[in-house]
Formats: sequence, C-alpha cells, structure tokens
Amino acid sequence: MFTLKVNGKDHSIDAENDMPLLWVIREEIGLTGTKFGCGIAQCGACTVHLNGTPVRSCAIPGSAVAGQAITTIEGLSPTAAHPIQKAWAALDVPQCGYCQSGQIMAAAALLRDKPKPTDKDIDEAMGNICRCGTYQRIRAAIHVAAGSKTADMGEHYQLHGGPVANAQA
Ligand code: FES
Ligand code: FES
Repeated sequence: MFTLKVNGKDHSIDAENDMPLLWVIREEIGLTGTKFGCGIAQCGACTVHLNGTPVRSCAIPGSAVAGQAITTIEGLSPTAAHPIQKAWAALDVPQCGYCQSGQIMAAAALLRDKPKPTDKDIDEAMGNICRCGTYQRIRAAIHVAAGSKTADMGEHYQLHGGPVANAQA
C-alpha cells in the first residue's frame, strides 16, 4: 500500500510495490491517456512528468515515487489549453494518436525548460518514437507553441483549418 500524488490528487494504491507506475496510473487510478508501448523505457508512449521532469512510467515502480508530484496528460491542462496541446490540434499532429500523449508530455517539458527551442534542442529532447512518422509535424507544432515560427513543414497546413491541399502559403 502506498500513496501516489497524481495531477495534484492523492491516491491510496493497494498494489504490489513493484507494479510499474504506468500500470498503477492506468489500472489502479483509471487514467488511460498514458499509453503502453514497449515496456522497456525505449518508446516514450508512457511519458509522464515526475516533479516536472519527463520520465518513462513503464520502467519505474509505482511505490518508488510515492508522495512525489506526478502529472499525466490528463493533468497537463484541465481544458486542453496548454500551448503544446493547442498547437497539436491546430497542426493536426496525430495520425493514429497512440504515441501522442507521450509526445505532448515530452514537448511540454522541453518548452518549459527552453521556451524558444531550436531544431537541435527538439531533436535532442524528443526521443519518443512515432510509428506513424509524425516527426515533422511534432517539430513544427513545438515551434508554433513557442511562438518562434509558423508551420514550415514542406506540406501545406494552416493554423486553424488543418491540411489545405495546394495552398499557397
Ligand atoms: S512503454 Fe514506456 S517507454 Fe515504451
Ligand atoms: S501518431 Fe501513430 S504512433 Fe505516433
């Protein structure tokens, strides 16, 4: 038995001490926005913030972070109004969507630490895997959220209308 503080709320968890944090979040607390991908800390689908730092929750025992501040995608913004979430929606970043909560959590932490990240900063910080290959849109959305560039993706997108065929930007 241990207590987890998730999205500002304490939860008493009746589970084995070695149950991965990801399982505790999904199965014991019922927050299913955080996804299971590889289970071995490689893909980033399970990314949450631990005391503000992005971590891979599949590789951390839940009991090891008892009492520490954990934020999941559900807690990033109650109204999905975080600049990263707004940029993601504006640029239609997700394809299948499976990796995207992890991507958003990683990007939100990057933006907090580096409000105007360069492409190199983004490449270094965003180690999350996307099997749909949305990397260009992820990069563009981070720049949009940072206010440092508009979408410059080699594809034609507009901020509030999603993909625009043959648009002349
Ligand atoms: S599921 Fe945790 S890193 Fe892949
Ligand atoms: S959007 Fe499908 S895995 Fe990233």
